[in-house]
Parts: sequence; C-alpha cells; structure tokens
Amino acid sequence: PRELTVALLGGGTVGSQVARLLRESADDLAARAGAALRLTGVGVRDAAKPREGIAPELLTDDLEGLASSGADIVVEVMGGIEPARSLILAAMAAGSSVVTANKALLAEDGGTLHAAAEKHGVDLYYEASVAGAIPLLRPLRESLAGDKVRRVLGIVNGTTNFILTKMDEDGADYADVLAEAQALGYAEADPTADVEGYDAAAKAAILAGLAFHTRVRGDDVHREGITSVSAQDVAAARDMGFVIKLLAVAELVDDEKGVVVRVHPAMVPRTHPLAGVRGAFNAVFVEAESAGDMMFYGRGAGGAPTASAVLGDIVAVARHRLAGSRGPGESTYAHLDVLPIGDA
Ligand code: NAP
Ligand code: HSE
Repeated sequence: PRELTVALLGGGTVGSQVARLLRESADDLAARAGAALRLTGVGVRDAAKPREGIAPELLTDDLEGLASSGADIVVEVMGGIEPARSLILAAMAAGSSVVTANKALLAEDGGTLHAAAEKHGVDLYYEASVAGAIPLLRPLRESLAGDKVRRVLGIVNGTTNFILTKMDEDGADYADVLAEAQALGYAEADPTADVEGYDAAAKAAILAGLAFHTRVRGDDVHREGITSVSAQDVAAARDMGFVIKLLAVAELVDDEKGVVVRVHPAMVPRTHPLAGVRGAFNAVFVEAESAGDMMFYGRGAGGAPTASAVLGDIVAVARHRLAGSRGPGESTYAHLDVLPIGDA
C-alpha cells in the first residue's frame, strides 16, 4: 500500500487537533488521499511536556531536522515569522510540499514562500490561514478564477467577534472576555495581534491578494483594532439599533487602478446578516462581476475547526504528489497599487 509522510511543526491548539485527526481518521484519509498518511514527528519547544493524543516518541524539539527530513508534506502550525519562514523554506528545498495556517507570515513575506514553492516544484497551501474552517481561499483561488472579484468584506477574526458579542450580550468588559477567548484556543499566542487588528489585517491582505491577483502585505492595510471600543460604545450602538463589528474590507477602486484594504470597527445595523455573526464565527461576502454576491460563513477559530481546513489541504496536496502534479501558484499579474482609505 502506498504511504505519504507528514511532518508537523507545532503541537499546540491547532497542531494537536491535526495529529488527532490524522490518527482517528486514518482510514478515511487514506482512502480519500490515495495513500496512508503517516505522521513522522511533531516539532515543539518543549518535547518533554506530554501532549494529549500525541505519542511521546513523535515529539521533538529539533524542528530544523524535522522540517528538512524530506517528508512528503510539512505542516507548519507553530506561528510567528521566524523560525517558521526558515523552516518552511528548508522543507521546500528538501522537496516537501507545505501546508500552513500562518497568516502573519503569509502577509509579511508570502512572495518569498510562493517563489520557493515555484522553484522547488512543490505545493504551498494555506486554507486555514483565513477564516478557520470556512472554505474561502480555494473558492477565490480556483472556483472564481474565471470571474472578476470587485469586493471582499467581512468578519475574519474570531477572538474579537467573540469579545464584541459578549460585550453586546452581557455588557461584559473587553479584558475579561479576552481571557475566555484565550482559554478557548481562539486567540493568537500574543493576543495583541487579535485585539489591535493585526491578525485581521494579515487576513485582509491575503484575501485581497487572491481576490485581485496582486500582492498585498499586512503593513499595507489600514488597521484599527477594538481596544478603544468600550462597554458604553457597545451599549450606545445597541440603543440605536446597531452592533459593533470588526470588519475587514478589500475593494477595487479608482477605475481598477488600485485597491483599498482596511480593518476597523464598524456600526452594523442589527438587520444586516453580519450582525447575526456571533461568537468565534466568521462571515465573508464576496462580490464578483458575473457570480454576483456570495456569503461564506462558519467557525473562524479554534483547534478542531482550523485542523479541518489543514486536513483538507493535506489531502489536496497528497493527491497532487501521487499524481505528480501541483495546485495553483501565486497569481500576481494585476500589480495593483494599495491606495489610502480616502480613495475608497
Ligand atoms: P499555539 O497553541 O501557541 O501552538 C504553537 C505550537 O508551536 C506549540 O506546540 C509550540 O511549542 C510550537 N512552537 C512555536 N514556536 C516554536 C519554536 N520557536 N520552536 C519550537 N516550537 C515552537 O498556536 P496555535 O493556536 O495552534 O496556532 C498555530 C498557528 O495556526 C498560528 O500561525 C496561528 O495564527 C494559526 N491559526 C490558529 C488558529 C486558532 O484558532 N488557534 C486558527 C487559524 C490559524 P510548545 O507547545 O512547546 O510551546
Ligand atoms: N486568532 C485568530 C482569530 C485565530 O481569533 O480569528 C483564527 O485565525
């Protein structure tokens, strides 16, 4: 029977769920991928710390060795810029296809990762990097490749949506609810990334790049977080029939000469579908010329939902390796300027 090897960099909230699904769904995954998927190692900081559901002999703190071991698929779910970037590049140089959930890295230096994937003839898949479990990047990258997307708009950060929902429903204070979001595995290792809007800005940059076939970096995105939204603001919005949401918006402007990409809190009328997106759920509207309006909705954060998207990528990449083919690379033919928000 055929077998493909999988090396996992990171065994935290997402990584532990990926390991669990690889083990518990092994037969189904093998049937769908066309080969058994064998986990060869899980890279962590502290390999002596027991991890529920991960066999101790799989744990290692030698991430460089694991990344460059020549596994068929290297899954990066450790987060951060370095050493994640170097490890992914080492994995590609060793001929491994890469699946990552790392939006911060993709928004900072996605071009380098895509160029390396191209150079080494391997796949780079990252469905879990935006909107958790929701299939969104593959529809933009593949299903809508024949259409012209004009606007992408939505809620792409589960932690802040969880916080704003609790503030709205219970009159809670933001700091108390943040601790709950962290305990539930929604928040980034440094939750500043969530509450200051950096995480949503990284996701907006990835969405804009895919939607408009250009390259947008997280730093290009106009960004405001939710730290200055008070319980009183939320109550006042409620009294006026609104709910406050952290929105990410990417749109073509100026007769298609540029794009405006922004993340900021916004007053959403309670009758709008986005007002009903509660807790750690995300929702994204895509407006395309021929398809018209579409809405993508589901769980945007959390270990198991995110692992679902990672597993989907692993199966896709496994099928390509068995067929000797690759998925789509980066499409940046449009070279659009990122314009100031005043141009929208
Ligand atoms: P996490 O719980 O903090 O887990 C990170 C894992 O990576 C831990 O096992 C950690 O080892 C290991 N790690 C990190 N830096 C390391 C280093 N320098 N050397 C060795 N090991 C290192 O994070 P997470 O929530 O699973 O998130 C992982 C990635 O998925 C991030 O890119 C995040 O943005 C993305 N993501 C997360 C979610 C979510 O809902 N949590 C959703 C979508 C995407 P130790 O355990 O020993 O510390
Ligand atoms: N911290 C992120 C969020 C995880 O809350 O949306 C999912 O990308």
